[in-house]
Amino acid sequence: MRVTVSRKAHFNSAHRLYRKDWSMEQNNTIFGKCNNPNYHGHNYELIASVTGEIDQETGFVIDVKILKDIIKKEIEDAFDHKNLNLDVPEFKDLNPTAENIAVVIHQKIKAKLASNLDLEVTLYETPRNFVTYSG
Ligand code: NI
Repeated sequence: MRVTVSRKAHFNSAHRLYRKDWSMEQNNTIFGKCNNPNYHGHNYELIASVTGEIDQETGFVIDVKILKDIIKKEIEDAFDHKNLNLDVPEFKDLNPTAENIAVVIHQKIKAKLASNLDLEVTLYETPRNFVTYSG
């Protein structure tokens, strides 16, 4: 039986959406207020969902404590109260849109999971705007 186990997490981060190779005018046209050179912040909400077979000995798909610790180390410690553009190496040359943040989160968590487990990441940038990535 394949079952999905989910864990919610939270981080506050600042970001700016822009391309270095575009003019300020072009960045403003595409990214609007998100191109503010002084950055702006979001309260991100993350849902990481791990799907796999139930282990017949433990009854777990994944020990949620292990998932919690992976999210803490890989995501919260790396992103919380950080400036994504300046402090997080993955976004040095990658625009930190919700889409790209979800992909980076997926890559970082997936790398720590057993290979037989599937992962879906849902990232809320605001209570109404969210993205989903399953790899
Ligand atoms: Ni933003």
